[in-house]
Amino acid sequence: MDVSLLPSEIAEAQSAFPAALAACADLDALNRLKGAYTGREASHAARMMDLLKAAPKEQKRDLGAAINAVKNAWDEAIKARQLELAAAKKAATWDPTLTPPMPPKGALHPLDRLMGRMTEAFRPLGYHIEEGPEIETAANNFDGLNIPEDHPARGSSDTFYLAAHPELLLRTHTSPVQVRVLARYGAKGADGVSLLEKKGGLRFLAPGRVYRKDEIDPTHSPMFHQIEGMLVGKGIGLHHLKGTLSYAMRALFGPDTKARFRPSYFPFVEPGCEMDVSCPLCAGKGCRVCKGSGWVEILGAGLIHPAVLSHAGIDAKVWSGFAFGMGVERTAMMVSQTPDLRLFFENDQRFLAAMGGLD
Ligand code: DAH
Repeated sequence: MDVSLLPSEIAEAQSAFPAALAACADLDALNRLKGAYTGREASHAARMMDLLKAAPKEQKRDLGAAINAVKNAWDEAIKARQLELAAAKKAATWDPTLTPPMPPKGALHPLDRLMGRMTEAFRPLGYHIEEGPEIETAANNFDGLNIPEDHPARGSSDTFYLAAHPELLLRTHTSPVQVRVLARYGAKGADGVSLLEKKGGLRFLAPGRVYRKDEIDPTHSPMFHQIEGMLVGKGIGLHHLKGTLSYAMRALFGPDTKARFRPSYFPFVEPGCEMDVSCPLCAGKGCRVCKGSGWVEILGAGLIHPAVLSHAGIDAKVWSGFAFGMGVERTAMMVSQTPDLRLFFENDQRFLAAMGGLD
Protein backbone atom coordinates (compact mmCIF):
# COMPACT_ATOMS: atom_id res chain seq x y z
CA MET A 1 0.00 0.00 0.00
CA ASP A 2 1.18 3.52 -0.66
CA VAL A 3 1.51 4.92 2.86
CA SER A 4 3.58 7.83 1.59
CA LEU A 5 0.31 9.61 0.98
CA LEU A 6 -0.60 9.41 4.65
CA PRO A 7 0.23 12.24 7.00
CA SER A 8 3.12 11.53 9.33
CA GLU A 9 1.02 10.91 12.46
CA ILE A 10 -0.88 8.13 10.72
CA ALA A 11 2.30 6.70 9.27
CA GLU A 12 3.72 6.60 12.78
CA ALA A 13 0.63 4.87 14.16
CA GLN A 14 0.92 2.43 11.27
CA SER A 15 4.52 1.55 11.99
CA ALA A 16 3.81 1.20 15.72
CA PHE A 17 0.86 -1.11 15.06
CA PRO A 18 2.62 -4.51 14.79
CA ALA A 19 4.44 -4.11 18.10
CA ALA A 20 1.35 -2.71 19.84
CA LEU A 21 -0.69 -5.66 18.57
CA ALA A 22 1.86 -8.19 19.72
CA ALA A 23 1.94 -6.51 23.12
CA CYS A 24 -1.78 -7.17 23.71
CA ALA A 25 -1.60 -10.00 26.21
CA ASP A 26 -5.33 -10.45 26.65
CA LEU A 27 -8.66 -9.66 25.05
CA ASP A 28 -9.16 -6.49 27.16
CA ALA A 29 -5.87 -5.04 25.96
CA LEU A 30 -6.78 -5.99 22.41
CA ASN A 31 -10.13 -4.22 22.73
CA ARG A 32 -8.40 -1.08 23.86
CA LEU A 33 -6.05 -1.26 20.89
CA LYS A 34 -9.00 -1.88 18.61
CA GLY A 35 -10.74 1.25 19.98
CA ALA A 36 -7.60 3.36 19.53
CA TYR A 37 -6.97 2.21 15.96
CA THR A 38 -10.27 1.40 14.33
CA GLY A 39 -12.91 2.76 16.74
CA ARG A 40 -15.64 4.99 15.36
CA GLU A 41 -14.51 8.03 17.30
CA ALA A 42 -11.20 9.45 18.53
CA SER A 43 -9.27 6.71 16.74
CA HIS A 44 -6.62 6.70 14.06
CA ALA A 45 -9.25 5.50 11.63
CA ALA A 46 -11.61 8.37 12.57
CA ARG A 47 -8.77 10.81 12.21
CA MET A 48 -7.98 9.41 8.76
CA MET A 49 -11.58 9.93 7.70
CA ASP A 50 -11.40 13.56 8.82
CA LEU A 51 -8.22 13.99 6.81
CA LEU A 52 -9.87 12.47 3.79
CA LYS A 53 -12.82 14.80 4.06
CA ALA A 54 -10.54 17.81 4.29
CA ALA A 55 -8.23 16.72 1.46
CA PRO A 56 -8.30 18.57 -1.88
CA LYS A 57 -10.58 16.96 -4.38
CA GLU A 58 -7.83 15.68 -6.73
CA GLN A 59 -6.13 13.78 -3.81
CA LYS A 60 -9.26 12.13 -2.51
CA ARG A 61 -9.09 9.04 -4.71
CA ASP A 62 -5.54 7.97 -3.94
CA LEU A 63 -5.72 9.01 -0.32
CA GLY A 64 -9.01 7.13 0.12
CA ALA A 65 -7.46 3.97 -1.30
CA ALA A 66 -4.45 4.26 0.99
CA ILE A 67 -6.63 4.85 4.03
CA ASN A 68 -8.82 1.88 3.18
CA ALA A 69 -5.82 -0.37 2.78
CA VAL A 70 -4.41 0.64 6.14
CA LYS A 71 -7.73 0.30 7.94
CA ASN A 72 -8.44 -3.11 6.40
CA ALA A 73 -5.00 -4.39 7.37
CA TRP A 74 -5.62 -3.27 10.96
CA ASP A 75 -9.06 -4.93 11.05
CA GLU A 76 -7.70 -8.23 9.75
CA ALA A 77 -4.73 -8.30 12.08
CA ILE A 78 -6.92 -7.49 15.09
CA LYS A 79 -9.39 -10.23 14.16
CA ALA A 80 -6.60 -12.79 13.85
CA ARG A 81 -5.11 -11.77 17.20
CA GLN A 82 -8.56 -11.99 18.78
CA LEU A 83 -8.89 -15.63 17.70
CA GLU A 84 -5.42 -16.38 19.03
CA LEU A 85 -6.16 -14.83 22.40
CA ALA A 86 -9.55 -16.53 22.65
CA ALA A 87 -7.96 -19.92 21.94
CA ALA A 88 -5.24 -19.27 24.50
CA LYS A 89 -7.87 -18.30 27.09
CA LYS A 90 -9.81 -21.50 26.43
CA ALA A 91 -6.65 -23.58 26.76
CA ALA A 92 -5.79 -21.82 30.00
CA THR A 93 -9.22 -22.61 31.49
CA TRP A 94 -9.12 -26.29 30.41
CA ASP A 95 -10.08 -28.49 33.32
CA PRO A 96 -8.26 -31.82 33.23
CA THR A 97 -10.70 -33.31 35.74
CA LEU A 98 -13.66 -33.00 33.35
CA THR A 99 -14.80 -36.12 31.47
CA PRO A 100 -13.45 -35.83 27.95
CA PRO A 101 -15.82 -36.21 25.02
CA MET A 102 -16.00 -39.95 24.41
CA PRO A 103 -16.32 -41.67 21.05
CA PRO A 104 -19.69 -43.45 20.85
CA LYS A 105 -19.59 -46.94 22.32
CA GLY A 106 -20.22 -49.89 20.07
CA ALA A 107 -23.21 -52.13 20.71
CA LEU A 108 -24.88 -55.20 19.33
CA HIS A 109 -27.06 -54.60 16.31
CA PRO A 110 -30.79 -54.46 17.18
CA LEU A 111 -31.42 -57.65 15.18
CA ASP A 112 -28.68 -59.45 17.12
CA ARG A 113 -30.19 -58.31 20.38
CA LEU A 114 -33.66 -59.43 19.36
CA MET A 115 -32.29 -62.82 18.25
CA GLY A 116 -30.60 -63.06 21.63
CA ARG A 117 -33.90 -62.35 23.39
CA MET A 118 -35.77 -64.81 21.18
CA THR A 119 -33.33 -67.66 21.84
CA GLU A 120 -33.15 -66.69 25.52
CA ALA A 121 -36.92 -67.25 25.79
CA PHE A 122 -36.34 -70.97 25.16
CA ARG A 123 -33.30 -71.37 27.38
CA PRO A 124 -35.17 -72.50 30.52
CA LEU A 125 -36.62 -75.31 28.41
CA GLY A 126 -33.17 -76.72 27.73
CA TYR A 127 -32.71 -75.75 24.09
CA HIS A 128 -29.13 -75.43 22.91
CA ILE A 129 -27.85 -73.54 19.87
CA GLU A 130 -26.92 -75.28 16.61
CA GLU A 131 -25.41 -73.70 13.54
CA GLY A 132 -25.37 -74.60 9.91
CA PRO A 133 -23.59 -73.11 6.89
CA GLU A 134 -25.19 -70.40 4.79
CA ILE A 135 -24.00 -72.20 1.66
CA GLU A 136 -26.01 -75.42 1.70
CA THR A 137 -26.57 -78.42 -0.47
CA ALA A 138 -29.87 -78.72 -2.29
CA ALA A 139 -30.10 -82.08 -0.51
CA ASN A 140 -30.19 -80.45 2.93
CA ASN A 141 -32.17 -77.38 1.94
CA PHE A 142 -34.90 -79.33 0.07
CA ASP A 143 -34.59 -83.14 -0.23
CA GLY A 144 -34.05 -83.92 3.45
CA LEU A 145 -37.05 -81.72 4.24
CA ASN A 146 -39.46 -83.66 2.05
CA ILE A 147 -39.76 -80.74 -0.37
CA PRO A 148 -40.90 -82.21 -3.71
CA GLU A 149 -38.73 -82.06 -6.86
CA ASP A 150 -41.17 -79.71 -8.58
CA HIS A 151 -41.62 -77.29 -5.66
CA PRO A 152 -41.42 -73.68 -6.92
CA ALA A 153 -38.98 -72.71 -4.13
CA ARG A 154 -36.36 -74.87 -5.85
CA GLY A 155 -36.43 -72.73 -8.99
CA SER A 156 -33.56 -70.39 -9.84
CA SER A 157 -35.99 -67.49 -9.80
CA ASP A 158 -36.52 -67.98 -6.04
CA THR A 159 -33.19 -69.41 -4.90
CA PHE A 160 -29.56 -68.31 -5.31
CA TYR A 161 -27.57 -71.22 -6.74
CA LEU A 162 -23.78 -71.08 -6.90
CA ALA A 163 -22.87 -70.63 -10.57
CA ALA A 164 -19.84 -72.93 -10.40
CA HIS A 165 -21.59 -75.54 -8.18
CA PRO A 166 -25.25 -75.91 -9.15
CA GLU A 167 -25.79 -78.46 -6.37
CA LEU A 168 -24.97 -75.71 -3.83
CA LEU A 169 -27.16 -72.76 -2.90
CA LEU A 170 -27.59 -70.02 -0.34
CA ARG A 171 -29.96 -71.62 2.15
CA THR A 172 -33.49 -70.31 1.77
CA HIS A 173 -34.43 -71.05 5.37
CA THR A 174 -32.81 -72.31 8.57
CA SER A 175 -34.69 -75.62 8.28
CA PRO A 176 -31.70 -77.46 6.69
CA VAL A 177 -30.07 -77.28 10.12
CA GLN A 178 -32.79 -79.79 11.11
CA VAL A 179 -31.46 -82.18 8.48
CA ARG A 180 -27.86 -81.81 9.67
CA VAL A 181 -28.68 -82.22 13.36
CA LEU A 182 -31.03 -85.16 12.78
CA ALA A 183 -28.34 -86.91 10.68
CA ARG A 184 -25.80 -86.42 13.47
CA TYR A 185 -28.16 -87.61 16.20
CA GLY A 186 -29.58 -90.43 14.08
CA ALA A 187 -26.23 -91.96 13.05
CA LYS A 188 -25.32 -95.09 14.99
CA GLY A 189 -22.00 -94.96 16.83
CA ALA A 190 -19.38 -97.71 16.96
CA ASP A 191 -21.44 -99.30 19.72
CA GLY A 192 -24.47 -99.42 17.43
CA VAL A 193 -26.30 -96.81 19.50
CA SER A 194 -27.25 -93.38 18.14
CA LEU A 195 -26.73 -90.09 19.96
CA LEU A 196 -30.50 -89.69 19.93
CA GLU A 197 -30.92 -92.96 21.82
CA LYS A 198 -28.13 -92.10 24.24
CA LYS A 199 -29.57 -88.71 25.05
CA GLY A 200 -33.20 -89.79 24.90
CA GLY A 201 -34.08 -86.95 22.53
CA LEU A 202 -32.89 -83.58 21.31
CA ARG A 203 -33.94 -79.98 21.33
CA PHE A 204 -32.18 -77.05 19.70
CA LEU A 205 -32.51 -73.60 18.17
CA ALA A 206 -30.70 -72.53 15.01
CA PRO A 207 -30.59 -68.78 14.43
CA GLY A 208 -29.01 -67.45 11.26
CA ARG A 209 -29.09 -65.75 7.89
CA VAL A 210 -31.17 -66.98 4.98
CA TYR A 211 -31.37 -65.84 1.36
CA ARG A 212 -34.09 -65.54 -1.23
CA LYS A 213 -34.31 -63.87 -4.61
CA ASP A 214 -36.62 -61.11 -3.49
CA GLU A 215 -36.53 -57.55 -4.75
CA ILE A 216 -35.62 -55.11 -2.00
CA ASP A 217 -38.64 -53.17 -0.77
CA PRO A 218 -39.98 -52.05 2.62
CA THR A 219 -40.94 -55.61 3.57
CA HIS A 220 -38.51 -57.75 1.52
CA SER A 221 -34.78 -58.27 1.51
CA PRO A 222 -32.73 -60.94 -0.31
CA MET A 223 -31.06 -61.65 3.04
CA PHE A 224 -32.88 -61.96 6.33
CA HIS A 225 -32.79 -63.94 9.56
CA GLN A 226 -34.72 -66.87 10.92
CA ILE A 227 -34.63 -68.93 14.05
CA GLU A 228 -35.34 -72.60 13.63
CA GLY A 229 -36.41 -74.74 16.54
CA MET A 230 -36.79 -78.47 16.89
CA LEU A 231 -37.55 -81.04 19.53
CA VAL A 232 -37.44 -84.82 19.14
CA GLY A 233 -38.54 -87.28 21.77
CA LYS A 234 -40.97 -90.11 22.33
CA GLY A 235 -44.72 -89.55 22.27
CA ILE A 236 -44.40 -85.90 21.29
CA GLY A 237 -47.66 -84.35 20.10
CA LEU A 238 -49.26 -81.04 19.23
CA HIS A 239 -49.92 -80.29 22.88
CA HIS A 240 -46.14 -80.20 23.50
CA LEU A 241 -45.72 -77.85 20.58
CA LYS A 242 -48.48 -75.59 21.84
CA GLY A 243 -47.22 -75.60 25.41
CA THR A 244 -43.62 -74.90 24.43
CA LEU A 245 -44.37 -72.07 22.04
CA SER A 246 -46.98 -70.47 24.30
CA TYR A 247 -44.44 -70.49 27.13
CA ALA A 248 -41.71 -68.94 24.99
CA MET A 249 -44.02 -66.25 23.63
CA ARG A 250 -44.99 -65.24 27.16
CA ALA A 251 -41.30 -65.03 28.06
CA LEU A 252 -40.66 -62.95 24.96
CA PHE A 253 -43.67 -60.63 24.83
CA GLY A 254 -44.97 -60.62 28.40
CA PRO A 255 -47.00 -62.88 30.72
CA ASP A 256 -50.40 -61.96 29.29
CA THR A 257 -49.50 -62.95 25.74
CA LYS A 258 -51.90 -65.41 24.14
CA ALA A 259 -51.10 -67.76 21.26
CA ARG A 260 -53.42 -69.24 18.66
CA PHE A 261 -52.71 -71.86 16.02
CA ARG A 262 -54.08 -72.02 12.48
CA PRO A 263 -53.67 -75.01 10.14
CA SER A 264 -51.12 -74.44 7.41
CA TYR A 265 -48.89 -76.45 5.08
CA PHE A 266 -45.14 -77.04 5.06
CA PRO A 267 -43.77 -80.21 3.44
CA PHE A 268 -41.54 -81.06 6.41
CA VAL A 269 -44.31 -81.12 9.02
CA GLU A 270 -47.61 -82.92 9.37
CA PRO A 271 -49.83 -81.43 10.55
CA GLY A 272 -48.46 -77.95 9.90
CA CYS A 273 -49.65 -74.73 11.43
CA GLU A 274 -49.00 -71.06 11.78
CA MET A 275 -49.01 -69.41 15.15
CA ASP A 276 -50.29 -65.93 15.95
CA VAL A 277 -49.75 -64.11 19.21
CA SER A 278 -52.00 -61.48 20.72
CA CYS A 279 -50.57 -58.20 19.43
CA PRO A 280 -47.76 -57.22 21.84
CA LEU A 281 -48.38 -53.54 21.12
CA CYS A 282 -52.10 -53.23 21.85
CA ALA A 283 -52.50 -56.40 23.97
CA GLY A 284 -55.02 -57.71 21.46
CA LYS A 285 -57.29 -54.67 21.41
CA GLY A 286 -56.54 -53.92 17.76
CA CYS A 287 -54.10 -51.34 16.41
CA ARG A 288 -52.25 -50.35 13.25
CA VAL A 289 -49.56 -53.01 13.73
CA CYS A 290 -52.04 -55.90 13.95
CA LYS A 291 -54.30 -54.17 11.41
CA GLY A 292 -57.09 -54.07 13.93
CA SER A 293 -57.27 -57.84 14.33
CA GLY A 294 -55.53 -58.06 17.71
CA TRP A 295 -53.27 -60.88 16.42
CA VAL A 296 -49.93 -61.00 14.63
CA GLU A 297 -48.45 -63.98 12.81
CA ILE A 298 -45.16 -65.00 14.34
CA LEU A 299 -44.06 -68.40 13.06
CA GLY A 300 -44.65 -71.59 11.13
CA ALA A 301 -44.56 -74.93 12.92
CA GLY A 302 -45.81 -78.48 13.01
CA LEU A 303 -45.09 -82.07 13.96
CA ILE A 304 -42.01 -83.40 12.18
CA HIS A 305 -43.02 -85.28 9.03
CA PRO A 306 -42.10 -88.99 9.36
CA ALA A 307 -40.25 -88.71 6.01
CA VAL A 308 -37.85 -86.16 7.56
CA LEU A 309 -37.06 -88.50 10.44
CA SER A 310 -36.58 -91.58 8.27
CA HIS A 311 -34.40 -89.59 5.84
CA ALA A 312 -32.01 -89.18 8.78
CA GLY A 313 -32.20 -92.88 9.67
CA ILE A 314 -34.48 -92.26 12.65
CA ASP A 315 -37.36 -94.66 13.24
CA ALA A 316 -40.50 -92.52 12.96
CA LYS A 317 -42.51 -95.21 14.76
CA VAL A 318 -40.37 -94.71 17.86
CA TRP A 319 -39.51 -91.05 17.67
CA SER A 320 -41.63 -87.99 17.05
CA GLY A 321 -41.24 -84.27 17.55
CA PHE A 322 -42.07 -80.78 16.47
CA ALA A 323 -40.33 -78.00 14.61
CA PHE A 324 -40.87 -74.30 14.14
CA GLY A 325 -39.36 -71.39 12.24
CA MET A 326 -39.60 -67.73 13.20
CA GLY A 327 -38.80 -64.65 11.10
CA VAL A 328 -36.56 -62.25 12.97
CA GLU A 329 -37.00 -59.10 10.86
CA ARG A 330 -40.76 -59.42 10.87
CA THR A 331 -40.75 -59.61 14.65
CA ALA A 332 -38.28 -56.72 14.87
CA MET A 333 -40.42 -54.53 12.62
CA MET A 334 -43.47 -55.31 14.68
CA VAL A 335 -42.04 -54.73 18.16
CA SER A 336 -40.13 -51.61 17.15
CA GLN A 337 -42.93 -50.38 14.86
CA THR A 338 -40.40 -49.89 12.08
CA PRO A 339 -42.31 -49.72 8.80
CA ASP A 340 -39.26 -50.25 6.56
CA LEU A 341 -37.09 -53.34 6.86
CA ARG A 342 -34.22 -51.67 5.01
CA LEU A 343 -33.48 -49.51 8.04
CA PHE A 344 -32.14 -52.61 9.79
CA PHE A 345 -29.49 -53.10 7.12
CA GLU A 346 -28.39 -49.55 6.35
CA ASN A 347 -26.56 -49.05 9.65
CA ASP A 348 -27.49 -45.39 9.96
CA GLN A 349 -26.19 -44.54 13.42
CA ARG A 350 -29.24 -42.38 14.14
CA PHE A 351 -31.54 -45.37 13.60
CA LEU A 352 -29.33 -47.71 15.62
CA ALA A 353 -29.19 -45.19 18.45
CA ALA A 354 -32.99 -44.78 18.37
CA MET A 355 -33.25 -48.57 18.65
CA GLY A 356 -31.19 -48.32 21.81
CA GLY A 357 -28.21 -49.92 20.13
CA LEU A 358 -25.72 -47.16 20.84
CA ASP A 359 -24.88 -45.30 24.02
N1 DAH B 1 -38.92 -72.95 6.87
C1 DAH B 1 -40.18 -72.25 6.88
C2 DAH B 1 -40.02 -70.96 6.09
O1 DAH B 1 -38.94 -70.60 5.71
C3 DAH B 1 -40.58 -71.89 8.29
C4 DAH B 1 -40.98 -73.13 9.05
C5 DAH B 1 -42.28 -73.57 9.02
C6 DAH B 1 -40.04 -73.81 9.79
C7 DAH B 1 -42.67 -74.70 9.72
C8 DAH B 1 -40.41 -74.96 10.49
C9 DAH B 1 -41.76 -75.39 10.45
O2 DAH B 1 -39.53 -75.64 11.22
O3 DAH B 1 -42.08 -76.49 11.15
O4 DAH B 1 -40.96 -70.28 5.88
